[in-house]
Amino acid sequence: MPERIAICPGTFDPITNGHVDIIDRSLRIFDRVIVAVLINPQKRPLFDSNRRVELIKASLEGRDRVVVDSFQGLLVDYVKKQKGSAIIRGLRAVSDFEYELQMALMNRRLDQDVETVFMMPSEEYSFLSSTMVKEIASFGGRVTGLVPEPVERALKDIFQNA
Ligand code: PNS
Repeated sequence: MPERIAICPGTFDPITNGHVDIIDRSLRIFDRVIVAVLINPQKRPLFDSNRRVELIKASLEGRDRVVVDSFQGLLVDYVKKQKGSAIIRGLRAVSDFEYELQMALMNRRLDQDVETVFMMPSEEYSFLSSTMVKEIASFGGRVTGLVPEPVERALKDIFQNA
């Protein structure tokens, strides 16, 4: 049987416990999960792409079937290059659905062979987003339990030393 490889793409600025939950669920279905950080020169992220990759690696330590990487350009091209069979996306609420459907159908149009698999995170993370985490941390709020420890420390370094 060939290895079943899933690509879990995203901005991950920064990775949250919601992302980790989805990655762990994906590991139950796929042999290998590649967490792929988009390098998008048009966006101004809080963490640069190398730091985002570092934080993901530190947050997913011990998961030997996970690979962390970054990519530029079209996601379907990256999926093909990695011999992936599916794109994993988390669906938190109905509000995610329209954007996710649009992206999944566009990716299918670009490459018929790539499927998108939607997974629901645990309900405790259904309200969680990287944007919210950054906002809370920027005002000195507690993000314990919302993000992995390495991310919590990195946010403290930025906002408490600002
Ligand atoms: O975490 P995000 O920001 O919701 O992730 C969005 C991401 C990275 C999955 C999406 O922007 C993407 O795949 N970008 C790569 C460019 C691409 O392939 N665009 C066409 C797909 S609609």
